[in-house]
Amino acid sequence: MIYLDYAAATPLDPIVLEAMQPYLSEQFYNPSAQYLAAQTIAKDVQAARTRVAHWLGARQSEITFTSGGTEANNLAIRGIMETYPDAKVLVSAIEHESVLAPAKHYDYAEIPVDQNGIVNLQMLADVIDDKTVLVSVMYANNEVGTIQPIRPISSLIAEVRRSRLQRGIKLPLLLHTDACQAANYLDLHAARLGVDLMTINGGKIYGPKQSGALYIKAGVTISPQILGGGQEKGLRSGTENVAGIMGFVEALDGAQSSRHEESKRLQELQRAFIKLLKEKVPNIEINGSEKHRLPNNVHATIPGQDNERLIFGLDELGILCAAGSACSASKEEASHVLLAMGLSEEQARASLRFTLGRKSTLEHIEATVTALLKVL
Ligand SMILES: Cc1ncc(COP(=O)(O)O)c(C=O)c1O
Repeated sequence: MIYLDYAAATPLDPIVLEAMQPYLSEQFYNPSAQYLAAQTIAKDVQAARTRVAHWLGARQSEITFTSGGTEANNLAIRGIMETYPDAKVLVSAIEHESVLAPAKHYDYAEIPVDQNGIVNLQMLADVIDDKTVLVSVMYANNEVGTIQPIRPISSLIAEVRRSRLQRGIKLPLLLHTDACQAANYLDLHAARLGVDLMTINGGKIYGPKQSGALYIKAGVTISPQILGGGQEKGLRSGTENVAGIMGFVEALDGAQSSRHEESKRLQELQRAFIKLLKEKVPNIEINGSEKHRLPNNVHATIPGQDNERLIFGLDELGILCAAGSACSASKEEASHVLLAMGLSEEQARASLRFTLGRKSTLEHIEATVTALLKVL
């Protein structure tokens, strides 16, 4: 079996499993309990928070653990929009559904992307108005792997903030980024990026699914989304998923400390893969920016083909890949990301996503191209 769908799910790193195990068995106590054994667990959770904060250049009080990317995105969008109900949210047209769907509950507008799938700064500048409280632009896209210009976006936002203050407008203007696909390969330092809120999750970085965090910059007011016992500073109640938190933190340490090496290795495989596809598959088009792209993503359109048929054919030959995002794959609709980039529905339905990861090798790439030619 050759697995090329790392953007959908990553296998658990054995070191991560080892870090989780004690908290699934003997260290099972509720961190809110008062006896010493439980207090030790509470301290472990705080230490884990500090480790996450380290990679984000943040304070531990700015990290809220969640049940993954979807919850963190919902907490960011709903949490801000419920605090400022008359304000407006702007999201890029290529966001994950867990940003788009909550944003659609409010006064919202989409920021278009260019044909490479990159947010157009001028268009963003044009749509921000005095009612905008939140802008959400993902760090890297889950379908085509494009890396968004977060730093230039945050500089633009800082300029608008200054202009608003001069005009006496008190409404904050905040920047959220969904970094779920970025955490394996890119710098997550919140201040360097200039973001106020950032989503990360464990399931994409060789950690457990249903684990993750939202970075919320000190001073940002956000409405709680899960009410109850008041855990996580009241923002999302519920007994902490301690094993999940420990696994998530271990995974983040592993991903961030190896990101330069792993990016370099995967970029070489990515180049070889694209070269081989262009040589062997007639009329193939590679989608997304070649330059501003995650090192593990290869996304292509093979004109006249039906991606479902290709995926089934490849599956029979032991190659696992995807049509779009894991969530939209089971739906009939063509990918909103590809449509936003200007592809037709027919082109979108003729597109395949291959995402590489830690176990990927050149032999995998070569075998995949051979199998694809067979299916074609
Ligand atoms: C960019 C992006 N955001 C959010 C999510 C949702 O994360 P989770 O599955 O942890 O809820 C995903 C994963 O599918 C993703 O790729």
